[in-house]
Amino acid sequence: MLNIIILAGGKGTRMKSVKPKVLQTLAGKPLLRHVLDTCKTLGADNTILIYGYNGQMVKDEITDTDLIWAQQAEQLGTGHAVQMALPHLPKDGKSLILYGDVPLTQASTLQKLIDASTNGISMLTMRVDNPFGLGRIIRTDGKVIAIVEEKDATDAQKAINEINSGIYCVENALLHKYLPALTNDNAQGEYYLTDIIKMAVADGVDIATTLPELGFEIEGVNDRIQLANLERTYQAHLINQLQLNGVQFADPSRVDIRGTLRCGQDVFIDVNTIFVGDVVLGSGVQIDSGNVITDCTIGDNSHIKPNCVLSESTIGKDVAIGPFAHIRPKSVIGDEVKIGNFVETKKSTLATGAKVSHLSYIGDAVVGRAVNVGAGVITCNYDGVNKFTTTIGDNAFVGSNCSLVAPVTIGANATIGAGSVITKDTPDDKLTLARSKQTTIDGWQRPVKK
Ligand code: UD1
Ligand code: CA
Repeated sequence: MLNIIILAGGKGTRMKSVKPKVLQTLAGKPLLRHVLDTCKTLGADNTILIYGYNGQMVKDEITDTDLIWAQQAEQLGTGHAVQMALPHLPKDGKSLILYGDVPLTQASTLQKLIDASTNGISMLTMRVDNPFGLGRIIRTDGKVIAIVEEKDATDAQKAINEINSGIYCVENALLHKYLPALTNDNAQGEYYLTDIIKMAVADGVDIATTLPELGFEIEGVNDRIQLANLERTYQAHLINQLQLNGVQFADPSRVDIRGTLRCGQDVFIDVNTIFVGDVVLGSGVQIDSGNVITDCTIGDNSHIKPNCVLSESTIGKDVAIGPFAHIRPKSVIGDEVKIGNFVETKKSTLATGAKVSHLSYIGDAVVGRAVNVGAGVITCNYDGVNKFTTTIGDNAFVGSNCSLVAPVTIGANATIGAGSVITKDTPDDKLTLARSKQTTIDGWQRPVKK
């Protein structure tokens, strides 16, 4: 039986925000969401969220149905916070104690910590260059005997550089035994969770310690400077992983990943692109500067030119998009398609080899193979109330500046003369025009100023 207890009650005064701290975002998602996502892979029997400041806001944002919410009305210390979980904790099993403002602990690190808790308590500790402000690990003969907070520490204890991450795995029986016995006679007048260590040691419990793989795994966030620093550290980490797998970045410090980015071989990513949600890039993909790509899959050898916005769409192989294109949700762009500048697509399918090179809107459309859509062509998909489909057959040629008033079908291999307003289906293989004839007025003169 594994329980997870997440302390998420703090206001985060130093954030200077109306939002509770755990809702501040890192890499595009709330701090607490990072923790919950990591927890999912640990297979706990339940997760207890200790909430407090502006709890309704947390409940509105975190709508997971499988959480147990336990309120800590007043913030009387970390030990007091975990006390709020006691009514929900069985007598047996163990609990992993985490923090909503320590977002980046890896599941593998937590699993190691859980595995190390066979004697009753394990804790995640680390040696750091600057331990200031953190609880120090006190050992005799190599064994942990206590944690002392900065404000309660002697000068000799302050010199210890092994610090308490605050993350533990503890048998529930021990939490039930020690938490009600905590007192607050310390420098901060708080109920310290850390005091359970010396209680356990007095009972002869051997405290196990484990290390995180990476330093940032135990970093907490208290103000916007720490938040931005952790964001940069995390981005550098994500980008390093991709570099080690063969992705080339023009400048690793000028790309942001707010979600997951998976790449094939020999992908090149230029500066100032933001990847949001789940993005998959095939081998040989080139992403030029200034793109925002959200929840897209892009096939091998495709090229996204500068300054495009692509969302919730699937792009085939050998495609060229942009510069300045807007690929809106549910666009399915086939292989070898070319989308040029100032083209917007939405909920449309473009088959292999179709070209929409300039200044077009393609919405609710089914565009066939090797279709050429001329400059300025618009699908008029919306009558102000309902949306309608435009279908363009294979190999059709739609001249510049046509309006295709949906619902309408352009035949296969058809040609539509430039400037036509097409309101009825057009036949296969033929030229269709829908425009007034060109006339020249003899003897007409320009008006003159009166
Ligand atoms: C705590 C540890 C310290 C450790 C440090 C790591 C204690 C007494 N000390 O210190 O040894 O090095 O974390 O960052 O545990 N919280 C509540 N309710 C409360 C108090 C705190 O939910 O009543 C939450 C806070 O919102 C925060 C976390 O618990 O997310 C840690 O609390 P904080 O007061 O920052 O503990 P530290 O003094 O940093
Ligand atoms: Ca803290």
